[in-house]
Amino acid sequence: MTLTAPATTRAGIVPGLDRIAFGGDYNPEQWPREVWDDDIKLMTEIGVNLVSVGIFSWVLLEPREGQFDFAWLDDVFDRLHAAGIGVSLGTPTASPPAWFWKQHPDARPVTRDGIPLGFGSRGMMSPSAPAYAAACERIVTALAERYGTHPALRLWHVHNEYGAPVSESYDTHSVDAFRVWLAKRYGTLEHLNDAWGTAFWGQRYGEWDEIDAPRRAATTVNPAQRLDFARFTSDALLACFVRERDILHRLSPGIPVTTNFMATSCPAMDYWKWAREVDIVSNDHYLTGERRDAHVLLAMDADMTRSLAAGKPWLLMEHSTSAVNWQDRNIAKRPGELERNSLSHWARGADGILFFQWRASRSGAEKFHSAIVPHQGAQSRIFTEAAELGRHLGDLRDALGTRVHARAAILWDWESFWAQDLEWRPSKDLSHRRQIENYYTWLWQLGLTVDFAHPEADLASYDLVLAPSLYLMSEAAAANVESFVRAGGTLIAGYFSGIVGVHDNVPAAPLPHGLSAVLGLSIDEFAPLRSGETADLSNGLSGTVWTDLLTATSARTIATYTTGPAAGGAAITRNTLGAGSAWYVSTELDPDGLASALAPALEDARIRADSAREPQLEHITRLGDDVAYEVYLNHTDRTLRLQTDGTDAVSGEPVGGETEIAAGGTRIIRHPIQ
Ligand code: GLA
Repeated sequence: MTLTAPATTRAGIVPGLDRIAFGGDYNPEQWPREVWDDDIKLMTEIGVNLVSVGIFSWVLLEPREGQFDFAWLDDVFDRLHAAGIGVSLGTPTASPPAWFWKQHPDARPVTRDGIPLGFGSRGMMSPSAPAYAAACERIVTALAERYGTHPALRLWHVHNEYGAPVSESYDTHSVDAFRVWLAKRYGTLEHLNDAWGTAFWGQRYGEWDEIDAPRRAATTVNPAQRLDFARFTSDALLACFVRERDILHRLSPGIPVTTNFMATSCPAMDYWKWAREVDIVSNDHYLTGERRDAHVLLAMDADMTRSLAAGKPWLLMEHSTSAVNWQDRNIAKRPGELERNSLSHWARGADGILFFQWRASRSGAEKFHSAIVPHQGAQSRIFTEAAELGRHLGDLRDALGTRVHARAAILWDWESFWAQDLEWRPSKDLSHRRQIENYYTWLWQLGLTVDFAHPEADLASYDLVLAPSLYLMSEAAAANVESFVRAGGTLIAGYFSGIVGVHDNVPAAPLPHGLSAVLGLSIDEFAPLRSGETADLSNGLSGTVWTDLLTATSARTIATYTTGPAAGGAAITRNTLGAGSAWYVSTELDPDGLASALAPALEDARIRADSAREPQLEHITRLGDDVAYEVYLNHTDRTLRLQTDGTDAVSGEPVGGETEIAAGGTRIIRHPIQ
């Protein structure tokens, strides 16, 4: 496949912004007016052009049911507008007021153990409670009527991180709504009984109202019931978003509506479905500070967000300037890390870099969270670094709308993850997340940009598709993957993939049921390893967690097991089908092991990987119609050198021949393309 530049538009992702969006959550209600003056002055100084306000302001805007006070927000809007700063207006529905909870205790979420959650926090409600729906409609309508056509309004930011910190609710309203959802999905109880396999353990239902949410029971609850409850939960929360969005579209035409995702870190929302409903995909990402490879996980999250946006530019709605406050140990960012993190998101398609939050709070749960203006004020390293980033993003204005091109995709399906994460699997050491991280890290170290794709999505633009951990596969997904291979693609599948169908049922077909013909093998028996046990392979590698006893039907064995329960049997196989090839790795290998075992699979995909490159020099390309931006992020503490020609996109200086990238530094080189 040759690299062709996708068509681009040189307009900002947010209408009315002609530069990369830069700013963050702004909570002026926590501060006296004189601080607002300072805020606006500092924002203007460093090029802030978009701030999110009002996200948690419900009780200030509606202090009593139906009584509104917009005076303070009018003032905020006017000040921001006068300074030329755009507003992303939050709908405050993640934090209903105390008066609401007093009147409607039935709207509180209930845990799987039956505990109703109390007030005093945020992000909690039963998505199916009628009183919550009515209260949301009232406040959102009032906000849209007041600000829907305000000249400073650029974007609607609905709610905050749907699904966090609570997603499933076992309250009465949710149980009622679950039954309605099931009736719509299955039509008849007979179909439901069949799909859930209720013949097992005598669980057959004779009436719809016998069905409950899968609350805590004596032992494992029917896995198909739990999987459907997970699907229902994502849908119920999505319905909350759609209800608000539709009001906003009606009363505030032309202003895009988004809600902030947590791409790879929210286990409860099926974002493939959600992404279809938002006008702009936006995402929140926080480093897992203790992990030395946190920047790789950041890249993975950004690639996932771009994939949710179907390749279009997206907004980084939140990240941190330095430490967060909610991890076990909150690691401060090192000098330069704020810029590297931000540019990694930008390089992977973000046309907006926003932070939580503008000014560090002095009270409340998040007072130890970093901000653009930390407690130390503007005379601080963090503010200085944020200001520098603001300048650099301003210099990148011409790159607005450029796109990222990936030749490889990792299959990702929340439904499969929900199903696999249920109890009573063959090994508690199974982890789809760890498997995906292993494969992603292998490719990241090679400098290969990767998309994520739903298993039923069109895969034709990829040369390489990976299914590191795809436990649940629909028939459509299986057919899709097979046609990809037949048409000349290269597939790499990891163990415990293609095991169940959409009802967490084992189909009457050889395992892996969706992949047996494609991989040219069948699994006779799972042979998971003991804790800490390894299985050696004939190619010198060692696997952990898992092995299979398998029979190769048409596949060729690439490596066998020399120890462990599958000793003598195939460990890694390659099959050809149509014009393509399909690889199977039946054990867990770390990224280096994958690099060594799967180099020939990259050759199958005609992907040339430069094994001599410095793996910690992140390299991503953004493409316009006639221009490429090569982004280099040096994650080492050494100066690195590379050969490149073009113009430094930030300084405007010509670059030719050997170019230096300082320890921990970044370079963006712009060059024309055909
Ligand atoms: C989330 C929330 C923010 C804030 C940050 C702190 O992303 O959306 O309101 O709590 O976490 O990291």
